[in-house]
Amino acid sequence: MTSTRDHWNTIFSSTEDQELGWYEHNARQTMEMLENVPGWNAATVFLPGAGTTVLVEELIAHGCKLVLNDVSSEALNRLKERLGNKSHGIVWNCQDISRPLDSGVPKVDLWVDRAVLHFLLDEGDIRGYLGNLSATLRLGGYVMFAEFSTTGAPKCAGLDLHRYSLEELTERLGAGYTLVSHTDYTFVNPFGDPRPYVYALFHRNKIVPSPKPKGCDHEQAN
Ligand SMILES: C[S@@+](CC[C@H](N)C(=O)[O-])C[C@H]1O[C@@H](n2cnc3c(N)ncnc32)[C@H](O)[C@@H]1O
Repeated sequence: MTSTRDHWNTIFSSTEDQELGWYEHNARQTMEMLENVPGWNAATVFLPGAGTTVLVEELIAHGCKLVLNDVSSEALNRLKERLGNKSHGIVWNCQDISRPLDSGVPKVDLWVDRAVLHFLLDEGDIRGYLGNLSATLRLGGYVMFAEFSTTGAPKCAGLDLHRYSLEELTERLGAGYTLVSHTDYTFVNPFGDPRPYVYALFHRNKIVPSPKPKGCDHEQAN
């Protein structure tokens, strides 16, 4: 099964937040990692699959400006409703993050992916995601990933996953990014099941062409 808009809309229209397998009542692990980003609380932050995470309120409370994307309009509408007047100034975008981002999406200082990249299975989709990252993250900016690790469950939300090691994340980002911090973190989901994640933070310190996708010998245009 592929990660489609309908699939995610069905989940978000039929499941309370607290019953979602990835629900966290606070985003402590993410916030701790963001402490490694100088001036992070004045940053413009892009979430490629915001869902309905409470991270949004935590970032707003610290003074961040937000660009919130998700393939699911149900998720974004629920989040917008929950935020009420706190949503003032947020840029909303509803699209598949593996497709080129709308030209109106602003450049950002920080890209925070929590459990989104690992749903992309097709090599072209992963490449499309990384192209959006390169086009949107400013030079000097930071990107944080929290993905199911290679020891994690093979599925989430009924979908197959591409699980990540630190080495693969580093290799896919390529020479323009330097690893700043990483940790293995086992999240215990609302049903009591352990879910091992790899958390990794990278600094974009050079503009270089995007890395070649695995198994591809020709040069990329981007
Ligand atoms: C496991 S949830 C995580 C949500 C949120 N990041 C959090 O930490 O709670 C995955 C999210 O990614 C979104 N998503 C999945 N595939 C996507 C895609 N190709 N483009 C954009 N969003 C996607 C889903 O709609 C969902 O909100």
